Amino acid sequence: MMKQIEMPKAYMKTRLPSKSVLIVSEKPDGNHNIMTAEWFMRTSIDPPMFAISVGHPRYTHDCLMDKRYFNLIFPGKEMNELMRLAGSKSGREIDKFTAGKIEYFPGKLRKLPVLKDALACFECEIISQIKSGDHTVFIGQVRYSWLNDEQELFYYE
Ligand SMILES: Cc1cc2nc3c(=O)[nH]c(=O)nc-3n(C[C@H](O)[C@H](O)[C@H](O)COP(=O)(O)O)c2cc1C
Repeated sequence: MMKQIEMPKAYMKTRLPSKSVLIVSEKPDGNHNIMTAEWFMRTSIDPPMFAISVGHPRYTHDCLMDKRYFNLIFPGKEMNELMRLAGSKSGREIDKFTAGKIEYFPGKLRKLPVLKDALACFECEIISQIKSGDHTVFIGQVRYSWLNDEQELFYYE
């Protein structure tokens, strides 16, 4: 039977397992940061676009306000540990690329890392943004796309 309930309690029941992604951004010093994100969606077919919602306190938020590019990465099956690291530690405290021993090659748009063990990677340029409460929704236009057809998608549980 349907009962009225506080929003977070209802939402928690709906969210797992989740199709979560990794967001790679560029630090002010030119190195890279990586963050787990559940709040993303495709928003346009032509040109292809993705929106990502990033909390104001995240280091990723600082990076995206400064350098207007991100790689949206769909994780591969073996990326459980990295998804947890990227979603629990801040790039302000540690270098997650070193800590996660991430293997990558530079992309074509802004040389942001394309992760070798990922299923897919979309190199995006931010073309618009909107404040949404305590998050900012960044809308990125996809410039280059990558697919590893030996991989399968990882679901966060
Ligand atoms: C499964 C999962 C999904 C998450 N989704 C989001 C999200 O969509 N947006 C967001 O701002 N933070 C999200 N987070 C929290 C960030 O990943 C986390 O705060 C991270 O440490 C931020 O790193 P940064 O400070 O280096 O940017 C999520 C965390 C997890 C574990």
